[in-house]
Amino acid sequence: MSNPSLLILPGDGIGPEVMAEVRRIIDWYGDKRGLAFDVSEDLVGGAAYDAHGTPLHDDTMAKAQEVDAVLLGAVGGPKYDVLDFSVKPERGLLRLRKEMDLYSNLRPAQCFDALADFSSLKKDVVAGLDIMIVRELTSGVYFGEPRGIFEEGNERVGINTQRYTESEIDRVARSAFELAMRRGKKVCSMEKANVMESGILWREVVTEVGKDYPEVELSHMYADAGAMQLCRWPKQFDVIVTDNLFGDLLSDAAAMLTGSLGMLPSASLGAPMENGRPKALYEPVHGSAPDIAGQGKANPIACILSFAMALRYSFDQGAEAERLEKAIETVLADGVRTADLLGEEGVTPVSTSGMGDAILAALD
Ligand code: NAI
Ligand code: MG
Repeated sequence: MSNPSLLILPGDGIGPEVMAEVRRIIDWYGDKRGLAFDVSEDLVGGAAYDAHGTPLHDDTMAKAQEVDAVLLGAVGGPKYDVLDFSVKPERGLLRLRKEMDLYSNLRPAQCFDALADFSSLKKDVVAGLDIMIVRELTSGVYFGEPRGIFEEGNERVGINTQRYTESEIDRVARSAFELAMRRGKKVCSMEKANVMESGILWREVVTEVGKDYPEVELSHMYADAGAMQLCRWPKQFDVIVTDNLFGDLLSDAAAMLTGSLGMLPSASLGAPMENGRPKALYEPVHGSAPDIAGQGKANPIACILSFAMALRYSFDQGAEAERLEKAIETVLADGVRTADLLGEEGVTPVSTSGMGDAILAALD
């Protein structure tokens, strides 16, 4: 049997810097755990624009459709701000998400004990926190028609439309329940069924899907109340499933419960392919960080944790994913910090590759 395949798209700014550390981890798994991947690398975002005049070449798109998983760094930067909207670096990423139909966006909010002081919340509120927000990614108000800015009488009106079909809700709900089965067996669905018809349908469909997962405890919450509960006592949640707009806000808020942008991974999953694996794109939540790019300061952990998610969700290697997460926990407990994680004075930060060295040493 051939090795599982990975397409790596480092992108722009700190993307290539953090991805270089991921490549070392991937090599380690090949050498030390007999877990070899067929890795290919290509361009996305500004880097692709510089080479081809487009933020994602058709050949790269075709490759992304064929591989078992795509791993992306980050795209964008001030150099590309002047470009026309149609060729902006972000368009490359959007095209990947759209054409791969990645409807289920997984955003964990997880607190490493060594970083619990970093949270704006009290330590006991966040220590040991491990929740997963599942955000619908391909529909809802960011895509619904009609949309636009129109003339109406003697003024203009801006319109966006929240629109969800039953099948769109069904498939993202299913992915949330499947996740919950592998975790704490709880799903909380968030909408605003009190004021939105799309929310009423959302609640109905999620409830129906829930009947297929009798072991999972399902609850419903209005999204605004959910935002309050996330700040008050986030550990009450296991998996949260919500729409595109609420998910955008709630996942960013939940992420910040735990500290730095340099620590946050994500996965975007689509329908199963012929081999049973879901279409999948893994990427850190952060952007290309032009303010620190090229200086060896970037924290590679978000990107490395994204690879851990790939091990778990694309390659059924949950134990190996845990091994990697444990290594990161060890390194943080030992006080190793990149510059973004500096709290107390007197600690000297390590470089991007220094953090990679420490994680590899902990894996060994
Ligand atoms: P950003 O996430 O790139 O940076 C925000 C702040 O966090 C900066 O101060 C940066 O230095 C810091 N930071 C981010 N990642 C870090 C890491 N791994 N280690 C240490 N510090 C880190 O967001 P910003 O500044 O709003 O956007 C910069 C560029 O990135 C823009 O062109 C934007 O469009 C693009 N972007 C791309 C994303 C993607 O590729 N998915 C997501 C967000 C922004
Ligand atoms: Mg956001």
